[in-house]
Amino acid sequence: MNKKEAQERLEKLKSLISKYRYHRLSLDKPLISEEAEDSLKKELFDLEKAFPDLMTPDSPTQRVGGEPLEKFKKVEHSKPMLSLNDVFSKGDLEEWGERQERLLKGATKGGFYAELKIDGLAIELIYKNGFFETGSTRGDGLIGEDITSNLKTVEAIPLKIAYSAEAASAAKAGQNPKEVVVRGEVFMARREFERFNRELKKKDQKIYANPRNLAAGSVRQLDPKITALRKLNSFAYSLVSDLGQKTHEEEHLILKNFGFQVNPHNRFVKNLDEVQKFRDHWEKNREKLDYEIDGIVITINDEDVFEKLGVVGKSPRGSVAYKFSPKESTTKVKDITISVGRTGTLTPIAILEPVGIGGVTVSRATLHNEDEIGRLGIKIGDTVVVGRAGDVIPDVIKVLKDLRTGKEKKFHMPKHCPVCGGPVKRIEGEAAHRCINKNCPAIKREAIYHFAGKNTMDIEGVGPKIIDSLMDAGLIKNAPDLYALKKEDLLNLPRFAEKLAENTVKSIQGNKNPPLDKFIFALGIRHVGEETAFDLAKKFGSTQKLAGASLETLSKIPNIGEVVAKSVYDWFHSKYNQNLLDKFKKAGVKPKEFKITKAMTKLAGKTFVFTGGLETITREAAQDKVRELGGDVSSDVSENVDYVVAGKEPGSKYEKAKKLGIKILNEEEFLVMIKYE
Ligand code: IVH
Repeated sequence: MNKKEAQERLEKLKSLISKYRYHRLSLDKPLISEEAEDSLKKELFDLEKAFPDLMTPDSPTQRVGGEPLEKFKKVEHSKPMLSLNDVFSKGDLEEWGERQERLLKGATKGGFYAELKIDGLAIELIYKNGFFETGSTRGDGLIGEDITSNLKTVEAIPLKIAYSAEAASAAKAGQNPKEVVVRGEVFMARREFERFNRELKKKDQKIYANPRNLAAGSVRQLDPKITALRKLNSFAYSLVSDLGQKTHEEEHLILKNFGFQVNPHNRFVKNLDEVQKFRDHWEKNREKLDYEIDGIVITINDEDVFEKLGVVGKSPRGSVAYKFSPKESTTKVKDITISVGRTGTLTPIAILEPVGIGGVTVSRATLHNEDEIGRLGIKIGDTVVVGRAGDVIPDVIKVLKDLRTGKEKKFHMPKHCPVCGGPVKRIEGEAAHRCINKNCPAIKREAIYHFAGKNTMDIEGVGPKIIDSLMDAGLIKNAPDLYALKKEDLLNLPRFAEKLAENTVKSIQGNKNPPLDKFIFALGIRHVGEETAFDLAKKFGSTQKLAGASLETLSKIPNIGEVVAKSVYDWFHSKYNQNLLDKFKKAGVKPKEFKITKAMTKLAGKTFVFTGGLETITREAAQDKVRELGGDVSSDVSENVDYVVAGKEPGSKYEKAKKLGIKILNEEEFLVMIKYE
């Protein structure tokens, strides 16, 4: 990017960020998530770093906290309340460490103190002769708002600090100091936030977007009685007064001995590798805490070194916030391409400049279909907000049209399949464009991937890479061809040695009697997912009977609507598919007959959701078991779910289940439930 382009981008970013800030703070109507806003600020920050003379004092990167409100008394902080610079990756973190070493040799030798970064509000607490006298917000960093009365309602903040012998000896201060200044975070626990929002909802009042906003609103109440009703909490994280502390760790010990609540998960770490481990652990486990954290704070443990490193801008050099990777971020669309699925659906895919989201690097996002492209108004070259829907598939959430340069290119769905060149049609009543060439290699390839996959026939050793080689070598054209493969065929392929070839053939041959529902699902009939396949297997008991079913019979099956019934009927009445079934038969593929037993109704009408890792059974096997017993499996937690099975390290579904009051089973309880004679 040249300087002129950088300046244009910078101006647009600044005005867009300030627009978002205004909507979020002044109108209380955010237009995008704060994470996406942060991601724009990071881009601005990087641009200003690359072109320092383009930096202006009104840049949002120059802001620390907000202006103090008029209605509260002002409090001048004894020392400025600074803020931390952020790092987002191990590379950034190492660069930070190296910078400190360059400034002061051996700066990082004494290790670091690692803390959880609480997503609340910074506060300063002043104690005079041991008594809590003044509590304030950060304000603009120099002058804050006096919120003493409100902070007095927070139990975690001592009204009098305990000058025990223990505290004093840890402080090595000997005598009670006249004034003690402490800083920390005030926040609201998730459970309390949910309780409070429920109350608001009952009264038909507007609910708060997150615990931090509610904590901020509560702390700024003019009537402390109102604050008292909203249970706030607090962690202390820094002792501004010099009580002889030598390390940041010791500072925390003094605070604890004084009677402040310090975070029990904070700890000393020797080096940056350990910092990385601490961060990764908490990124994975943050949902288990009853309060929100948005990263970790790393501080050079030795206080002398920390002081010597000093301050740059408005941040201390010796401390840094290592943020978790956001669940949403902004990035640029480099291109839009098309992927052809097993039912011939053409899915537009946005090719992105790689960006870290929720701990993984994302470089593609699905745009679903033409309607979605229209709804988003997305063009090639656009800056977009990307998130991970349901924590798995990246999704484009919003297009930031204000950042356009005029060079963006419109995208049109192709009229011909990009793989086979065959005609593409948008079927009436559907959002999808489809390649209607039944011989399209992309469709066939995807169909075989699906057939051999884990949730279908589960043919061990036959994944997409091997299927690609087999197709490219002309050894298979469709799924039944797999069963005709011989060891010699495989030996001609790259990477196949004697033993592997033998095992692969064995694995395929050992897969001729699958459960009927798995086989039906494996056929790749449009609209027939795992659940429908199970219902069809249960109703018909064999492929032959299913193939002979009339459209009317199919439509009458519970859970199966007209569209699905028609799709199943059409599939079995196509010459091509009849030929496939014939080939399966000749190859000796014979699904096990499906027999309904009493046990199969044991969980009838019950819906299960799984979250976290199971130890004695795989997730797939557990889900199969539920279906076998007549129950349903869902991927999302809603009011219609009866049980959530929570394994090790459960995810957000666990929290949601708790919120909705859904029965949660541990692995053992689940195993007891599925046991039957
Ligand atoms: S140390 C120079 N430790 O994160 C500021 N900050 O900009 C020193 N925060 O708003 C802060 N948890 O209020 C520190 N354990 C922790 C923290 C923490 C949350 C907040 C702090 C400030 C922001 C950093």
